Amino acid sequence: MSQKLDKTPNVISKMFTSLAPRYDLMNDVMTGFTHHHTRKFALELIREKQIDRILDLASGTGDFAFLLNNLLKSETVIIGCDFSRGMLEIACHRLQTIQNVAEKKLAFFCSDINHLPFSDKIFDVCSIIYGLRNVQDPLGVLHEIYRLTKPNGRLVIVESNIPLNPIIRFLLSFYFKKIVPIIASLFASNVQAYDYYFKSVEQFIAPIGLLKLLKKSNWNQVTINRLLFDTVIVYEISKK
Ligand SMILES: C[S@@+](CC[C@H](N)C(=O)[O-])C[C@H]1O[C@@H](n2cnc3c(N)ncnc32)[C@H](O)[C@@H]1O
Repeated sequence: MSQKLDKTPNVISKMFTSLAPRYDLMNDVMTGFTHHHTRKFALELIREKQIDRILDLASGTGDFAFLLNNLLKSETVIIGCDFSRGMLEIACHRLQTIQNVAEKKLAFFCSDINHLPFSDKIFDVCSIIYGLRNVQDPLGVLHEIYRLTKPNGRLVIVESNIPLNPIIRFLLSFYFKKIVPIIASLFASNVQAYDYYFKSVEQFIAPIGLLKLLKKSNWNQVTINRLLFDTVIVYEISKK
């Protein structure tokens, strides 16, 4: 296993800011556009619910928040938060290009998701898409999201995963160690950061570990959906 990654907030937010100019492009190229499929899967879990307020944590350039904006009724308040100014600048730029933004009540703001400036129990749904493995204290973040979520509210987590199947594991490792550096050298605004990407997936707690953290932070009723040969997991979680 590689050396433990430094996930102090300053290091991570700077790294994502350096990635931001080409983040969306790299996501498309590196995943062969499959990240759209996983986001849409997560979106379907939210579609049927009665939602007044939704919080998208570690929102990045806002991909998921914009999908929510298209999906949900116009009265729904959608808030995206992230601590990388570079990622947020792109989200805000995209926001300015949307015509119906005033009706839709979509906003982004800058904050560390470990400590959010909201009262208890105000969100019907929270989401964190490819964000949790980047935080220093995932348990603290899960506690914080629990605090903000209404009773009977929901949390949707999407996270990359290293599958148990040895063949897929081998192919994934080959792809990220040999092919992605070439793709990154052609398209990325910070090539080294893509080394971080695979290591952060390798070092992240396996689904069983995340289930334990969810239990410790009082969440219950977890449904696990394994996508793309188990390389992505979508967790649907409720607060009873
Ligand atoms: C891999 S990106 C995912 C962005 C977006 N959710 C998406 O699906 O494209 C991870 C994001 O998490 C943010 N992040 C990591 N740790 C954070 C923290 N403690 N507080 C706020 N944002 C954080 C980073 O700035 C980055 O934008």
